[in-house]
Amino acid sequence: MPLHKVIYDTDPGIDDAMALVFQALHPEIDLLGITSVFGNATIDTTTRNALYLAQRFAPGVPVARGAAAPLQCAAPVPLGWIHGDDGLGNIELPEPDHGKLDARPAHRFIVETVRAHPGEVTLLAVGPLTNLALALADDPGIAHRVKEVVIMGGAFGIRGVLGNVTPAAEANVHCDPEAADIVCGAPWKLSIVGLDVTHETVMTNAFLASIRDRGGEPGRFVWDISRHYERFHFESDRIEGIYAHDYSAVAYLLAPHLYETRSGPVRVVTSGIATGQTIQKPSAMHVDAPDWDGRPACAVCVGVDAPAVLNLYESTLCAGA
Ligand code: BDR
Ligand code: CA
Repeated sequence: MPLHKVIYDTDPGIDDAMALVFQALHPEIDLLGITSVFGNATIDTTTRNALYLAQRFAPGVPVARGAAAPLQCAAPVPLGWIHGDDGLGNIELPEPDHGKLDARPAHRFIVETVRAHPGEVTLLAVGPLTNLALALADDPGIAHRVKEVVIMGGAFGIRGVLGNVTPAAEANVHCDPEAADIVCGAPWKLSIVGLDVTHETVMTNAFLASIRDRGGEPGRFVWDISRHYERFHFESDRIEGIYAHDYSAVAYLLAPHLYETRSGPVRVVTSGIATGQTIQKPSAMHVDAPDWDGRPACAVCVGVDAPAVLNLYESTLCAGA
């Protein structure tokens, strides 16, 4: 019985695709739609990938095309060396049926779907937060109508990591810091799954091989697309495996008890050398901080039971095979 009606806002992206497979296979998730955003690749490529993923793993789930660029500047150069030129590890996937694209822009799709299911929809956002900011601008009332918002983004330095694309910033937030600051300041229930926990949760080569061998067609797909990502992780961080970025946001939604969180308002730095840095004022901190005070508290993930998260991913993928 599905417990979570989800709009998945994503820039696929290898780990985005792995998170989509996870959601499509988990019985407690009811995917209401997939909205694309620029980020790991151009909007044309991420939308194509979202359509491909929906048609292969979540047939019937609508896909709406989202923002091509951040709120206040031009689109960044795509990260081909991380996710492949095609965004999915360069494994030569067939073209999806582009005629199936929803006619609405992503932010409008979000607004109308939230209005149609008041109090029921979770926004699960794992790319730049431009579509969510545009949805809030279109209808600020959705902040009171969503059930909750879970994002993969940011880094709070809990274990010394403040960024992955600059020393101060995580990629999704860095791509559109203005949008991220708007999303963190909206009056909705927001949880942030950042590098503090995704770097603690590593899918090793052996783990991915086990999914390949035991997870049927979805498991083989996860293996195929993750070859490129695994090479990138080894070359950049010398780790033998891949960080569990976007699927950690899914795991948090399904099993929040596997995470330790810290409450408090969050601001995003929007200019200067620390652009994209995420800074929380913990609720337990009793100093005046006018730039934070008065903004809603967010739940920032500061700890994780990594083996249990990995087990949840593996058992979900292997359950139906
Ligand atoms: C985030 O950046 C992207 O490359 C990944 O898909 C993930 O959403 C990690 O910083
Ligand atoms: Ca992503």
